[in-house]
Amino acid sequence: MKMDIALPILLFFVFLVIVFILIDRMLEVFKKKQYHDAIQHDRFMRTVDWIFNSFFEWRRWKKYLLVGTTIIIMVLGISISFIQFALPSVPPLPTININHQDSTLLKRGKYLVEHVAICTDCHSPRDVNSYSWPVIAGQEGAGGPFLSKKAGFDFPGESFTPNITPAGEIGKWTDAQLYRLLTTGIKADGNTINHAMPFEAFGKADPEDLKAIIVYLRTLRPIHNSPEGKTQIDYFYQLTNRLIPRTPKPIYKTELKNAVDSGRYLVMLAACNDCHTPKKWDDSFDTKRAFMGGIEFPMPTGGFVHSANLTPDESGIGDWNEDTFVNRFLSYRDSTAIYKVSTGAANSLMPWSAFRYMEEADLRRIYAYLRTLPPIHNPVVKFTKESYRLKKAREEER
Ligand code: HEC
Ligand code: HEC
Repeated sequence: MKMDIALPILLFFVFLVIVFILIDRMLEVFKKKQYHDAIQHDRFMRTVDWIFNSFFEWRRWKKYLLVGTTIIIMVLGISISFIQFALPSVPPLPTININHQDSTLLKRGKYLVEHVAICTDCHSPRDVNSYSWPVIAGQEGAGGPFLSKKAGFDFPGESFTPNITPAGEIGKWTDAQLYRLLTTGIKADGNTINHAMPFEAFGKADPEDLKAIIVYLRTLRPIHNSPEGKTQIDYFYQLTNRLIPRTPKPIYKTELKNAVDSGRYLVMLAACNDCHTPKKWDDSFDTKRAFMGGIEFPMPTGGFVHSANLTPDESGIGDWNEDTFVNRFLSYRDSTAIYKVSTGAANSLMPWSAFRYMEEADLRRIYAYLRTLPPIHNPVVKFTKESYRLKKAREEER
Protein backbone atom coordinates (compact mmCIF):
# COMPACT_ATOMS: atom_id res chain seq x y z
CA MET A 1 0.00 0.00 0.00
CA LYS A 2 2.27 2.76 -1.23
CA MET A 3 0.68 5.94 -2.39
CA ASP A 4 0.86 9.63 -2.10
CA ILE A 5 -1.84 10.16 0.54
CA ALA A 6 -1.30 13.52 2.23
CA LEU A 7 -2.92 15.60 -0.51
CA PRO A 8 -5.89 13.27 -1.18
CA ILE A 9 -6.68 13.21 2.58
CA LEU A 10 -6.73 16.99 2.70
CA LEU A 11 -8.91 17.23 -0.40
CA PHE A 12 -11.23 14.62 1.09
CA PHE A 13 -11.81 16.73 4.20
CA VAL A 14 -12.40 19.85 2.12
CA PHE A 15 -14.89 17.80 0.12
CA LEU A 16 -16.60 16.69 3.37
CA VAL A 17 -17.06 20.31 4.48
CA ILE A 18 -18.58 21.26 1.13
CA VAL A 19 -20.96 18.28 1.26
CA PHE A 20 -21.83 19.23 4.82
CA ILE A 21 -22.72 22.81 3.88
CA LEU A 22 -24.78 21.64 0.91
CA ILE A 23 -26.77 19.16 3.01
CA ASP A 24 -27.32 21.77 5.68
CA ARG A 25 -28.63 24.29 3.11
CA MET A 26 -30.93 21.63 1.68
CA LEU A 27 -32.38 20.77 5.08
CA GLU A 28 -32.99 24.47 5.81
CA VAL A 29 -35.02 24.70 2.64
CA PHE A 30 -36.98 21.55 3.52
CA LYS A 31 -38.10 23.09 6.80
CA LYS A 32 -39.96 25.94 5.06
CA LYS A 33 -43.73 25.39 5.13
CA GLN A 34 -44.43 25.31 1.40
CA TYR A 35 -41.67 22.72 0.82
CA HIS A 36 -42.52 20.70 3.89
CA ASP A 37 -45.95 19.81 2.50
CA ALA A 38 -44.53 19.03 -0.93
CA ILE A 39 -41.90 16.75 0.60
CA GLN A 40 -44.53 14.75 2.49
CA HIS A 41 -46.09 13.81 -0.89
CA ASP A 42 -42.85 12.67 -2.51
CA ARG A 43 -41.50 9.31 -1.42
CA PHE A 44 -37.88 10.05 -2.38
CA MET A 45 -37.88 13.36 -0.52
CA ARG A 46 -39.54 11.73 2.49
CA THR A 47 -36.73 9.16 2.60
CA VAL A 48 -34.02 11.84 2.41
CA ASP A 49 -35.77 13.78 5.14
CA TRP A 50 -36.02 10.66 7.28
CA ILE A 51 -32.37 9.69 6.79
CA PHE A 52 -31.06 13.06 7.88
CA ASN A 53 -33.56 14.06 10.54
CA SER A 54 -34.28 10.78 12.30
CA PHE A 55 -31.49 8.42 11.36
CA PHE A 56 -28.53 10.82 11.59
CA GLU A 57 -30.19 13.13 14.09
CA TRP A 58 -28.77 15.87 11.98
CA ARG A 59 -29.51 18.74 14.35
CA ARG A 60 -27.63 17.05 17.17
CA TRP A 61 -24.58 16.13 15.09
CA LYS A 62 -24.43 19.25 13.00
CA LYS A 63 -22.26 21.34 15.26
CA TYR A 64 -19.85 18.50 16.14
CA LEU A 65 -19.38 17.56 12.49
CA LEU A 66 -18.42 21.01 11.34
CA VAL A 67 -16.22 21.75 14.33
CA GLY A 68 -14.62 18.28 14.13
CA THR A 69 -13.81 18.51 10.45
CA THR A 70 -12.41 22.01 10.84
CA ILE A 71 -10.16 20.91 13.70
CA ILE A 72 -8.89 17.89 11.72
CA ILE A 73 -8.10 20.07 8.69
CA MET A 74 -6.25 22.55 10.86
CA VAL A 75 -4.23 19.90 12.72
CA LEU A 76 -3.33 18.19 9.43
CA GLY A 77 -2.40 21.48 7.78
CA ILE A 78 -0.24 22.60 10.68
CA SER A 79 1.51 19.21 10.96
CA ILE A 80 2.25 19.04 7.25
CA SER A 81 3.54 22.63 7.18
CA PHE A 82 5.69 21.93 10.22
CA ILE A 83 7.22 18.82 8.65
CA GLN A 84 7.65 20.57 5.31
CA PHE A 85 9.22 23.78 6.55
CA ALA A 86 10.74 23.12 10.00
CA LEU A 87 12.14 19.58 9.60
CA PRO A 88 14.67 18.11 9.56
CA SER A 89 16.60 20.27 11.99
CA VAL A 90 19.96 20.78 10.31
CA PRO A 91 22.80 19.56 12.54
CA PRO A 92 25.85 21.86 12.80
CA LEU A 93 28.92 21.00 10.71
CA PRO A 94 31.20 18.61 12.62
CA THR A 95 34.72 19.67 13.45
CA ILE A 96 36.89 17.06 11.82
CA ASN A 97 40.47 16.93 10.76
CA ILE A 98 41.46 14.55 8.00
CA ASN A 99 45.00 13.75 6.98
CA HIS A 100 44.70 13.16 3.25
CA GLN A 101 48.30 11.88 3.05
CA ASP A 102 47.59 8.94 5.40
CA SER A 103 48.09 5.83 3.26
CA THR A 104 46.33 3.54 5.75
CA LEU A 105 43.20 5.69 5.49
CA LEU A 106 43.45 5.73 1.68
CA LYS A 107 43.71 1.95 1.49
CA ARG A 108 40.82 1.41 3.91
CA GLY A 109 38.79 4.03 2.02
CA LYS A 110 39.26 2.34 -1.35
CA TYR A 111 38.21 -0.99 0.16
CA LEU A 112 35.08 0.47 1.77
CA VAL A 113 34.02 2.63 -1.21
CA GLU A 114 34.43 -0.11 -3.81
CA HIS A 115 33.77 -3.37 -1.97
CA VAL A 116 31.89 -2.83 1.30
CA ALA A 117 29.80 0.37 1.38
CA ILE A 118 29.79 0.10 -2.42
CA CYS A 119 29.38 3.82 -3.05
CA THR A 120 30.66 3.33 -6.60
CA ASP A 121 28.06 0.63 -7.25
CA CYS A 122 25.18 3.09 -6.79
CA HIS A 123 27.04 6.19 -7.98
CA SER A 124 28.26 4.99 -11.39
CA PRO A 125 26.76 4.11 -14.75
CA ARG A 126 26.24 0.33 -14.76
CA ASP A 127 26.36 -2.27 -17.48
CA VAL A 128 22.81 -3.61 -17.09
CA ASN A 129 23.39 -6.20 -19.82
CA SER A 130 26.06 -8.00 -17.83
CA TYR A 131 25.48 -10.34 -14.90
CA SER A 132 24.85 -8.41 -11.65
CA TRP A 133 25.20 -5.01 -13.35
CA PRO A 134 28.93 -4.27 -12.93
CA VAL A 135 30.12 -0.66 -12.89
CA ILE A 136 31.30 0.47 -16.33
CA ALA A 137 35.09 0.50 -16.02
CA GLY A 138 36.60 3.98 -15.94
CA GLN A 139 33.27 5.57 -14.89
CA GLU A 140 33.61 5.05 -11.12
CA GLY A 141 31.65 7.71 -9.22
CA ALA A 142 30.33 9.54 -12.30
CA GLY A 143 26.70 9.21 -11.15
CA GLY A 144 23.80 7.83 -13.12
CA PRO A 145 20.26 6.50 -13.10
CA PHE A 146 19.38 4.63 -9.94
CA LEU A 147 15.86 3.66 -8.87
CA SER A 148 12.74 4.30 -10.88
CA LYS A 149 9.08 3.60 -10.36
CA LYS A 150 8.56 4.07 -14.11
CA ALA A 151 11.05 1.28 -14.81
CA GLY A 152 9.00 -1.03 -12.55
CA PHE A 153 10.93 -0.80 -9.27
CA ASP A 154 8.95 -0.78 -6.04
CA PHE A 155 10.22 2.72 -5.25
CA PRO A 156 8.18 5.90 -4.63
CA GLY A 157 9.58 8.04 -7.43
CA GLU A 158 12.56 8.50 -9.67
CA SER A 159 16.06 8.73 -8.24
CA PHE A 160 19.36 9.49 -9.88
CA THR A 161 22.73 9.34 -8.16
CA PRO A 162 24.92 12.44 -8.22
CA ASN A 163 28.47 12.57 -9.52
CA ILE A 164 30.75 11.97 -6.50
CA THR A 165 34.08 12.41 -8.29
CA PRO A 166 36.00 15.64 -7.57
CA ALA A 167 34.45 17.04 -10.79
CA GLY A 168 30.97 16.73 -9.28
CA GLU A 169 29.20 19.16 -6.96
CA ILE A 170 30.99 17.68 -3.93
CA GLY A 171 34.36 18.78 -5.37
CA LYS A 172 33.42 22.20 -3.99
CA TRP A 173 32.41 20.92 -0.54
CA THR A 174 34.59 20.90 2.56
CA ASP A 175 35.39 17.61 4.32
CA ALA A 176 33.04 18.63 7.12
CA GLN A 177 30.17 19.19 4.65
CA LEU A 178 30.82 15.81 3.07
CA TYR A 179 31.02 14.15 6.48
CA ARG A 180 27.68 15.68 7.49
CA LEU A 181 26.07 14.51 4.25
CA LEU A 182 27.26 10.93 4.73
CA THR A 183 26.06 10.74 8.33
CA THR A 184 22.84 12.77 8.16
CA GLY A 185 21.78 13.15 4.52
CA ILE A 186 21.96 16.95 4.73
CA LYS A 187 23.69 18.62 1.78
CA ALA A 188 26.09 21.55 1.91
CA ASP A 189 23.16 23.91 1.15
CA GLY A 190 21.06 22.49 4.03
CA ASN A 191 18.66 20.54 1.80
CA THR A 192 17.98 16.85 2.32
CA ILE A 193 18.73 13.98 -0.05
CA ASN A 194 16.29 11.12 -0.49
CA HIS A 195 16.26 7.99 1.65
CA ALA A 196 17.64 5.70 -1.08
CA MET A 197 21.14 6.80 -0.06
CA PRO A 198 21.93 4.76 3.09
CA PHE A 199 22.88 7.76 5.24
CA GLU A 200 21.18 6.30 8.31
CA ALA A 201 23.53 3.31 8.08
CA PHE A 202 26.58 5.50 7.45
CA GLY A 203 25.56 7.61 10.46
CA LYS A 204 26.42 4.57 12.58
CA ALA A 205 29.85 4.06 11.00
CA ASP A 206 33.08 4.55 12.92
CA PRO A 207 34.37 8.11 12.26
CA GLU A 208 37.72 6.58 11.20
CA ASP A 209 35.93 4.67 8.43
CA LEU A 210 34.08 7.80 7.31
CA LYS A 211 37.34 9.72 7.14
CA ALA A 212 38.86 6.88 5.12
CA ILE A 213 35.92 7.06 2.69
CA ILE A 214 36.37 10.82 2.28
CA VAL A 215 40.13 10.47 1.69
CA TYR A 216 39.53 7.97 -1.09
CA LEU A 217 36.62 9.91 -2.67
CA ARG A 218 38.93 12.90 -3.13
CA THR A 219 41.30 10.73 -5.18
CA LEU A 220 38.68 9.42 -7.65
CA ARG A 221 39.42 10.36 -11.26
CA PRO A 222 37.43 13.56 -11.96
CA ILE A 223 34.72 12.82 -14.52
CA HIS A 224 32.53 15.57 -15.95
CA ASN A 225 29.07 14.08 -15.96
CA SER A 226 25.67 14.92 -14.62
CA PRO A 227 22.77 12.46 -14.52
CA GLU A 228 20.39 12.89 -17.44
CA GLY A 229 17.28 13.11 -15.25
CA LYS A 230 15.97 14.81 -12.15
CA THR A 231 15.33 13.07 -8.82
CA GLN A 232 11.64 13.32 -7.94
CA ILE A 233 10.19 11.52 -4.92
CA ASP A 234 6.44 11.22 -4.27
CA TYR A 235 5.29 13.97 -1.90
CA PHE A 236 4.29 11.66 0.97
CA TYR A 237 7.78 10.12 1.03
CA GLN A 238 9.39 13.55 0.90
CA LEU A 239 7.52 14.16 4.16
CA THR A 240 8.50 10.85 5.82
CA ASN A 241 12.12 11.52 4.79
CA ARG A 242 11.98 14.77 6.81
CA LEU A 243 10.96 12.77 9.91
CA ILE A 244 14.17 10.69 9.90
CA PRO A 245 16.36 11.64 12.91
CA ARG A 246 19.59 13.35 11.84
CA THR A 247 21.85 12.59 14.78
CA PRO A 248 24.78 10.33 13.89
CA LYS A 249 25.28 7.52 16.43
CA PRO A 250 28.74 6.17 15.66
CA ILE A 251 29.67 2.60 16.54
CA TYR A 252 33.41 2.45 17.25
CA LYS A 253 35.29 -0.55 15.93
CA THR A 254 36.92 -0.93 19.36
CA GLU A 255 33.41 -1.72 20.68
CA LEU A 256 33.08 -4.73 18.36
CA LYS A 257 33.89 -7.64 20.64
CA ASN A 258 33.56 -10.67 18.37
CA ALA A 259 32.91 -11.91 14.83
CA VAL A 260 29.14 -11.49 15.22
CA ASP A 261 29.50 -7.82 16.23
CA SER A 262 31.90 -7.16 13.36
CA GLY A 263 29.59 -8.96 10.96
CA ARG A 264 26.64 -6.83 12.05
CA TYR A 265 28.74 -3.71 11.51
CA LEU A 266 29.75 -4.81 7.99
CA VAL A 267 26.20 -5.76 7.03
CA MET A 268 25.10 -2.30 8.17
CA LEU A 269 27.82 -0.53 6.14
CA ALA A 270 27.07 -2.69 3.09
CA ALA A 271 23.34 -1.96 3.41
CA CYS A 272 22.45 -5.63 2.76
CA ASN A 273 19.09 -4.67 4.29
CA ASP A 274 18.32 -2.49 1.28
CA CYS A 275 17.57 -5.47 -0.92
CA HIS A 276 17.10 -8.34 1.52
CA THR A 277 14.62 -6.84 4.06
CA PRO A 278 11.05 -6.03 2.98
CA LYS A 279 9.79 -2.50 3.56
CA LYS A 280 6.72 -1.33 5.46
CA TRP A 281 4.04 0.93 3.97
CA ASP A 282 6.10 4.06 4.74
CA ASP A 283 9.17 2.61 2.95
CA SER A 284 11.02 1.94 6.23
CA PHE A 285 12.50 -1.51 6.95
CA ASP A 286 10.19 -4.12 8.43
CA THR A 287 12.54 -5.42 11.15
CA LYS A 288 10.17 -8.27 11.99
CA ARG A 289 10.89 -9.68 8.53
CA ALA A 290 14.60 -8.81 8.52
CA PHE A 291 16.63 -10.52 5.77
CA MET A 292 13.84 -12.83 4.66
CA GLY A 293 14.34 -11.75 1.03
CA GLY A 294 11.78 -12.15 -1.74
CA ILE A 295 11.98 -8.54 -2.91
CA GLU A 296 11.48 -8.26 -6.62
CA PHE A 297 13.54 -6.26 -9.10
CA PRO A 298 12.79 -5.94 -12.82
CA MET A 299 15.73 -6.72 -15.11
CA PRO A 300 16.34 -4.68 -18.26
CA THR A 301 17.44 -7.94 -19.93
CA GLY A 302 13.95 -9.30 -19.21
CA GLY A 303 12.38 -11.16 -16.29
CA PHE A 304 12.51 -10.49 -12.56
CA VAL A 305 15.04 -11.34 -9.86
CA HIS A 306 14.03 -11.90 -6.22
CA SER A 307 16.46 -11.33 -3.36
CA ALA A 308 17.48 -14.43 -1.40
CA ASN A 309 16.42 -15.36 2.12
CA LEU A 310 19.56 -14.81 4.24
CA THR A 311 18.16 -16.12 7.53
CA PRO A 312 19.31 -19.51 8.90
CA ASP A 313 16.07 -21.24 7.89
CA GLU A 314 16.23 -24.19 5.48
CA SER A 315 14.55 -21.91 2.91
CA GLY A 316 17.42 -19.46 3.51
CA ILE A 317 21.07 -20.21 4.17
CA GLY A 318 20.22 -22.72 6.94
CA ASP A 319 22.17 -25.61 5.44
CA TRP A 320 25.11 -23.52 4.18
CA ASN A 321 28.37 -23.72 6.07
CA GLU A 322 30.86 -20.88 6.37
CA ASP A 323 32.90 -22.05 3.38
CA THR A 324 29.84 -22.38 1.11
CA PHE A 325 28.99 -18.80 1.98
CA VAL A 326 32.48 -17.39 1.47
CA ASN A 327 33.08 -19.36 -1.73
CA ARG A 328 29.86 -18.08 -3.21
CA PHE A 329 31.30 -14.56 -3.12
CA LEU A 330 34.82 -15.58 -4.15
CA SER A 331 33.49 -17.58 -7.13
CA TYR A 332 32.60 -14.32 -8.87
CA ARG A 333 36.29 -13.36 -8.94
CA ASP A 334 36.54 -15.68 -11.93
CA SER A 335 36.52 -13.45 -15.01
CA THR A 336 33.87 -15.61 -16.72
CA ALA A 337 31.40 -15.23 -13.82
CA ILE A 338 30.36 -11.71 -14.86
CA TYR A 339 29.23 -12.36 -18.44
CA LYS A 340 26.95 -10.71 -20.99
CA VAL A 341 23.38 -11.82 -20.31
CA SER A 342 21.24 -12.70 -23.31
CA THR A 343 17.68 -11.36 -23.39
CA GLY A 344 15.37 -13.26 -21.05
CA ALA A 345 18.19 -15.20 -19.33
CA ALA A 346 18.63 -15.06 -15.56
CA ASN A 347 20.30 -11.88 -14.34
CA SER A 348 20.83 -10.52 -10.83
CA LEU A 349 20.98 -7.24 -9.01
CA MET A 350 23.05 -8.68 -6.17
CA PRO A 351 26.26 -6.60 -6.37
CA TRP A 352 28.48 -9.67 -6.78
CA SER A 353 30.98 -7.75 -8.91
CA ALA A 354 31.59 -5.32 -6.03
CA PHE A 355 31.33 -7.72 -3.07
CA ARG A 356 33.47 -10.47 -4.64
CA TYR A 357 36.58 -8.59 -3.49
CA MET A 358 35.43 -8.27 0.08
CA GLU A 359 38.15 -9.72 2.33
CA GLU A 360 37.64 -13.37 3.20
CA ALA A 361 37.88 -12.61 6.92
CA ASP A 362 35.07 -10.03 6.57
CA LEU A 363 32.86 -12.49 4.68
CA ARG A 364 33.34 -14.96 7.55
CA ARG A 365 32.24 -12.27 10.01
CA ILE A 366 29.14 -11.54 7.93
CA TYR A 367 28.30 -15.24 7.90
CA ALA A 368 28.71 -15.42 11.69
CA TYR A 369 26.26 -12.54 12.09
CA LEU A 370 23.67 -13.92 9.66
CA ARG A 371 23.63 -17.21 11.63
CA THR A 372 22.35 -15.30 14.67
CA LEU A 373 19.24 -13.98 12.89
CA PRO A 374 15.88 -15.48 13.79
CA PRO A 375 15.11 -18.02 11.04
CA ILE A 376 12.15 -17.07 8.83
CA HIS A 377 10.55 -19.56 6.49
CA ASN A 378 10.31 -17.91 3.08
CA PRO A 379 11.19 -19.98 0.03
CA VAL A 380 12.26 -17.67 -2.81
CA VAL A 381 12.35 -18.48 -6.51
CA LYS A 382 15.27 -16.30 -7.56
CA PHE A 383 14.49 -15.64 -11.18
CA THR A 384 11.09 -15.61 -12.88
CA LYS A 385 9.89 -14.51 -16.29
CA GLU A 386 6.65 -13.14 -14.79
CA SER A 387 6.40 -10.50 -12.09
CA TYR A 388 5.21 -11.87 -8.72
CA ARG A 389 4.57 -8.37 -7.48
CA LEU A 390 2.32 -7.35 -10.37
CA LYS A 391 0.51 -10.69 -10.22
CA LYS A 392 -0.18 -10.21 -6.50
CA ALA A 393 -1.35 -6.62 -7.07
CA ARG A 394 -3.73 -7.85 -9.77
CA GLU A 395 -5.11 -10.52 -7.44
CA GLU A 396 -5.64 -7.96 -4.68
CA GLU A 397 -7.54 -5.69 -7.05
CA ARG A 398 -9.99 -8.45 -7.91
C1 HEC B 1 22.00 2.32 -2.41
C2 HEC B 1 22.59 3.29 -3.24
C3 HEC B 1 23.63 4.23 -2.68
C4 HEC B 1 24.77 3.90 -2.01
C5 HEC B 1 25.27 2.52 -1.61
C6 HEC B 1 25.45 5.14 -1.77
N1 HEC B 1 24.74 6.19 -2.24
FE1 HEC B 1 25.27 8.16 -2.15
N2 HEC B 1 23.47 8.66 -2.91
C7 HEC B 1 22.52 7.79 -3.41
C8 HEC B 1 21.43 8.54 -3.93
C9 HEC B 1 20.18 7.94 -4.56
C10 HEC B 1 21.74 9.91 -3.74
C11 HEC B 1 20.94 11.10 -4.21
C12 HEC B 1 19.78 11.39 -3.35
C13 HEC B 1 19.06 12.65 -3.79
O1 HEC B 1 19.56 13.40 -4.65
O2 HEC B 1 17.99 12.87 -3.26
C14 HEC B 1 23.03 9.94 -3.10
C15 HEC B 1 23.70 11.13 -2.73
C16 HEC B 1 25.02 11.18 -2.34
C17 HEC B 1 25.79 12.39 -2.18
C18 HEC B 1 25.29 13.82 -2.39
C19 HEC B 1 25.99 14.44 -3.56
C20 HEC B 1 25.38 15.69 -4.10
O3 HEC B 1 26.00 16.28 -4.99
O4 HEC B 1 24.27 16.07 -3.67
C21 HEC B 1 27.05 12.00 -1.81
C22 HEC B 1 28.26 12.89 -1.52
C23 HEC B 1 27.06 10.57 -1.73
N3 HEC B 1 25.81 10.09 -2.05
C24 HEC B 1 28.17 9.81 -1.38
C25 HEC B 1 28.12 8.44 -1.16
C26 HEC B 1 29.20 7.68 -0.57
C27 HEC B 1 30.56 8.25 -0.19
C28 HEC B 1 28.77 6.41 -0.46
C29 HEC B 1 29.49 5.22 0.14
C30 HEC B 1 30.00 5.38 1.49
C31 HEC B 1 27.43 6.36 -1.01
N4 HEC B 1 27.06 7.61 -1.40
C32 HEC B 1 26.68 5.21 -1.11
C33 HEC B 1 22.60 6.42 -3.40
C34 HEC B 1 23.61 5.68 -2.82
C1 HEC C 1 21.12 -4.25 -4.73
C2 HEC C 1 20.44 -5.33 -4.05
C3 HEC C 1 21.22 -6.25 -3.14
C4 HEC C 1 22.11 -5.91 -2.13
C5 HEC C 1 22.56 -4.53 -1.70
C6 HEC C 1 22.52 -7.15 -1.53
N1 HEC C 1 21.91 -8.21 -2.17
FE1 HEC C 1 22.29 -10.18 -1.82
N2 HEC C 1 21.04 -10.69 -3.35
C7 HEC C 1 20.27 -9.81 -4.08
C8 HEC C 1 19.48 -10.55 -5.04
C9 HEC C 1 18.52 -9.95 -6.04
C10 HEC C 1 19.80 -11.92 -4.86
C11 HEC C 1 19.23 -13.14 -5.60
C12 HEC C 1 19.91 -13.39 -6.92
C13 HEC C 1 21.30 -13.94 -6.79
O1 HEC C 1 21.51 -14.94 -6.07
O2 HEC C 1 22.21 -13.37 -7.41
C14 HEC C 1 20.80 -11.96 -3.80
C15 HEC C 1 21.42 -13.12 -3.35
C16 HEC C 1 22.30 -13.18 -2.30
C17 HEC C 1 22.94 -14.41 -1.85
C18 HEC C 1 22.80 -15.76 -2.48
C19 HEC C 1 21.90 -16.61 -1.64
C20 HEC C 1 21.47 -17.87 -2.33
O3 HEC C 1 20.55 -18.50 -1.81
O4 HEC C 1 22.04 -18.23 -3.37
C21 HEC C 1 23.71 -14.07 -0.76
C22 HEC C 1 24.56 -15.00 0.08
C23 HEC C 1 23.56 -12.65 -0.55
N3 HEC C 1 22.71 -12.14 -1.51
C24 HEC C 1 24.14 -11.95 0.48
C25 HEC C 1 24.14 -10.56 0.57
C26 HEC C 1 24.89 -9.83 1.55
C27 HEC C 1 25.71 -10.45 2.68
C28 HEC C 1 24.71 -8.50 1.28
C29 HEC C 1 25.36 -7.32 1.94
C30 HEC C 1 26.81 -7.43 2.08
C31 HEC C 1 23.82 -8.43 0.12
N4 HEC C 1 23.48 -9.69 -0.26
C32 HEC C 1 23.41 -7.23 -0.47
C33 HEC C 1 20.27 -8.43 -3.98
C34 HEC C 1 21.11 -7.69 -3.14
